Amino acid sequence: MDSAGQLARRIAIVGAGPSGLFAAQALVAQSDVPVEVDILDRLPTPYGLLRYGVAPDHTSIKSVATALARTFDNDRVAFVGNVEFGRDTTREELLAAYDTVVYAVGASEDMHLGIAGEHLAGSRSAREFVSWYSGHPDAKAQDLTGVRAAAVIGVGNVAVDVARILAKTAESLEVTDMPEAVLAELRRHEVDDIHVIARRGPHHAAFTTVELRELMHTPGLAVTVTPDAFDGIPADLERRPRANVEILRDAAARVVDNPRRRLHFSFWRRPAALEGIDAVETLVLERTRLDDAGKVVGTGELERLPMQLVLRSIGYRSIALPGVPFDERAGVVSNVEGRVVDADGVVQPGEYVVGWIKRGPSGVIGTNKSDAAQTVRHLVADLLAERPRAHGTGLVAALASRGVRASTLADWRAIDAAEIARGESLGRARAKIESWDELLQLCQG
Ligand SMILES: Cc1cc2nc3c(=O)[nH]c(=O)nc-3n(C[C@H](O)[C@H](O)[C@H](O)COP(=O)(O)OP(=O)(O)OC[C@H]3O[C@@H](n4cnc5c(N)ncnc54)[C@H](O)[C@@H]3O)c2cc1C
Ligand SMILES: NC(=O)c1ccc[n+]([C@@H]2O[C@H](COP(=O)([O-])OP(=O)(O)OC[C@H]3O[C@@H](n4cnc5c(N)ncnc54)[C@H](OP(=O)(O)O)[C@@H]3O)[C@@H](O)[C@H]2O)c1
Repeated sequence: MDSAGQLARRIAIVGAGPSGLFAAQALVAQSDVPVEVDILDRLPTPYGLLRYGVAPDHTSIKSVATALARTFDNDRVAFVGNVEFGRDTTREELLAAYDTVVYAVGASEDMHLGIAGEHLAGSRSAREFVSWYSGHPDAKAQDLTGVRAAAVIGVGNVAVDVARILAKTAESLEVTDMPEAVLAELRRHEVDDIHVIARRGPHHAAFTTVELRELMHTPGLAVTVTPDAFDGIPADLERRPRANVEILRDAAARVVDNPRRRLHFSFWRRPAALEGIDAVETLVLERTRLDDAGKVVGTGELERLPMQLVLRSIGYRSIALPGVPFDERAGVVSNVEGRVVDADGVVQPGEYVVGWIKRGPSGVIGTNKSDAAQTVRHLVADLLAERPRAHGTGLVAALASRGVRASTLADWRAIDAAEIARGESLGRARAKIESWDELLQLCQG
């Protein structure tokens, strides 16, 4: 009940990433309907890709975590960790236990190239690589033994992050919160050549200028750009592509004496196949052009580059949540401005969606704030039109009765404190704990 004696509406948000936390903030900030919010996550740690995606050397953006952490200062918001939708709980159970459910699970898979050899060892997704260096407990350790040449496919900001982590010295990353085992692997890696492969021109690239500039100014890095990259670039470009093209031209013209590593940008090329016996040995590229409709097509001209690691960075992908209407083509929960709808467009009462699972895997953290605000506006309007419902004993008790122990905010605080203590002992602000066992042990309190 709130101070006016109104029964608070119980809201479950599934996913404690930026979009889920922004939705919770918007819910407790409004005063039309009293609410109590449980934020569920499959991990015992909140923040989603802010913790397990944003590059560890981008410390300033991590301060957004401070703002998002304030979500939990409100005593009407609870964190319910270690609860996976689809494994530990279901749509039906949540709809029975709460007035409203908001799905905020992001995009946990990645796109595939669909080319021969993609399954070979040494062919991975940037997502796996990012999860590893970010200390995600599900990540597989990455072994860079024998890798002298690595390629990143795609020219979005994730590709730039991955290329930069490979390009930097391990010493320069020692101030970050990367797990010790990751730093140890990065200290010993011997990658000399990093190739970034774009299927269109420099003016089409998705990366932002600040990120590109930072990569180009990595100390000791010599940059080359395929000579034909700058042919046919229109003169009337908008600000961002124009700045990107200038940065690429400048970097390619710069002479770096005794470079530590080399970065090669290949534009107008796409992967045609990966070749090798047990592992990737060769990346086969096909030259590309745009057809009359502006679509990328291959020219049939092939080039072969010796390569031991190929990281596809061609976008993340959401997966369907059991029982929740999913638009396979768009890769999102079917929705109209955040209200979940079925295949016929009929609104599903009490179900909403925010973030990457609502609109697809694009946009920076801030984008999720206005996106969540839109959903919450509809949610609150719908709640105002409905009578409050009485609830049973609640989800956490139901989970406990079948042996699922949800973790709490106190458990996350214990993990947080342990990471800070570990960092201090190593002369850093934080060192991430990447093992499930250790995380769960810290949840026992
Ligand atoms: C590699 C990378 C780097 C990025 N760097 C930046 C950056 O520097 N700056 C910036 O502004 N933006 C950056 N972004 C974009 C930003 O991270 C996203 O806009 C944002 O994280 C999307 O938020 P979300 O809440 O929709 O998804 P997510 O952040 O993915 O959060 C989803 C949450 O749901 C949980 N979850 C998933 N499935 C389930 C389930 N079945 N049950 C329960 N919980 C579940 C996950 O554990 C996770 O905590 C980056 C993105 C990537 C991929
Ligand atoms: N520092 C930051 O702010 C930061 C850091 C990381 C991520 N993010 C954000 O997170 C979001 C996701 O980033 P992202 O890099 O994963 O995605 P993205 O920006 O959508 O970039 C995907 C890249 O993959 C290419 N691509 C797609 N399919 C391909 C294929 N089959 N073959 C070859 N290339 C292909 C695309 O080329 P085409 O353009 O030709 O399709 C594009 O260059 C973005 O909004 C990004 O800005 C932000």
